[in-house]
Amino acid sequence: MHTVNVEIQANKPYNYPIFIGNGILEKAGSYLKRYIKAKKLLIVSNQTVYSLYGEQVKKSLLAEGFNVEILLLPEGERHKNINSLEKIWTKAIQYKLERKDAIIAFGGGVTGDVTGFAAATYLRGIDFAQIPTTLLAQVDSSVGGKVAVNHQLGKNLIGNFYQPKIVIADTAVLSSLPLTELKVGLAEVLKYGFIEKTCGLNKINSSFIDFLEKNKDLIFSLNPSILEELVKYCCELKACVVNKDEKESGLRAILNFGHTIGHAIEKCYGYNNINHGEAVAIGMKGAFFIAGAKNLIDENYVQKSINLLDDYKMSYKIDKNFTPDDLYESMQVDKKVQAGKIRFILPVSPSEVRIFDDISKEEAITAIKTLY
Ligand code: NAD
Ligand code: GLY
Repeated sequence: MHTVNVEIQANKPYNYPIFIGNGILEKAGSYLKRYIKAKKLLIVSNQTVYSLYGEQVKKSLLAEGFNVEILLLPEGERHKNINSLEKIWTKAIQYKLERKDAIIAFGGGVTGDVTGFAAATYLRGIDFAQIPTTLLAQVDSSVGGKVAVNHQLGKNLIGNFYQPKIVIADTAVLSSLPLTELKVGLAEVLKYGFIEKTCGLNKINSSFIDFLEKNKDLIFSLNPSILEELVKYCCELKACVVNKDEKESGLRAILNFGHTIGHAIEKCYGYNNINHGEAVAIGMKGAFFIAGAKNLIDENYVQKSINLLDDYKMSYKIDKNFTPDDLYESMQVDKKVQAGKIRFILPVSPSEVRIFDDISKEEAITAIKTLY
């Protein structure tokens, strides 16, 4: 079992633990008891996750004396919206949740984001905890406090920063994850390899890319100790970034490596027929091509990185249903655009990236053309 501490440097400094371990779900109640003062808990989940692991979690919460109410939301990105939010608020009111009580997100990133936003707004904010059950949620979305719902005009447009009191990540639950969902998480894991040094964790002699190259087969076969180590290290990297820049006024933008093109691809596909991991993997390749063409990095590093993505079965291409110009157009309306400038996170040396606001349309389009 590992613990990663997330420290937030706010007006009122704040920290919380992420517990990571194989099979720790059955102790969820005792972990929560240490960090949450609530008597009543509202557990928000979905049918898939709850039918697999719900009874185990509920039993452990009841054993610690919590009163527990369950709300199952419809699943999928299209339900990360105001309707789901309203369902949580309504259930919380009916269940008479008070300020001292808590809401628990139990599921993937969709559940975590919408539940976190509900917790941030119900009674102007009540305690919140995350029990992430996808790889993406364990290495990324449950850490760092970004909570949001989608608006029909765009993804994650309505949200807040609202940190949980505790995160409990049981890596054993990843065994029931479909391979496509595992690969969505792995795309974000590879991202950490490409941004590792810029995160500033400064672990001596550590190269996450080497770890990922060496342990690919063990990762795909869900080796328990390798998975724990993987999730722990990604959480440490993200915690280090969030510690320095909770509200994304600078450094935190590096977590969007590959996402400038990635989000535009998802948008052009109408969030159908492509998943987030596929889009981000293509976007990371695009970032490498732009950086290579600008001589920011040498050809060897570009090739090594593309090979790593291919080894992880991320050899995705864009369908030709829309043009590079369409994609560029989409990038211009992303929420990462600042003062009309598209922001790219580009590699500048192995495992190091920098934020660029001056990539020309021509440079971007030239790279995008290689992604078809
Ligand atoms: P998801 O929550 O939709 O989960 C994917 C699927 O896996 C769902 O069908 C779910 O029911 C199922 N599932 C979950 N756990 C399972 C398990 N253990 N076994 C079997 N099936 C399981 O998708 P996701 O990839 O976890 O999250 C994507 C969301 O995360 C997006 O909305 C994205 O915007 C958000 N996100 C947020 C942040 C952040 O910082 N808040 C960061 C990255 C992504
Ligand atoms: N996933 C990007 C962030 O948390 O900032």
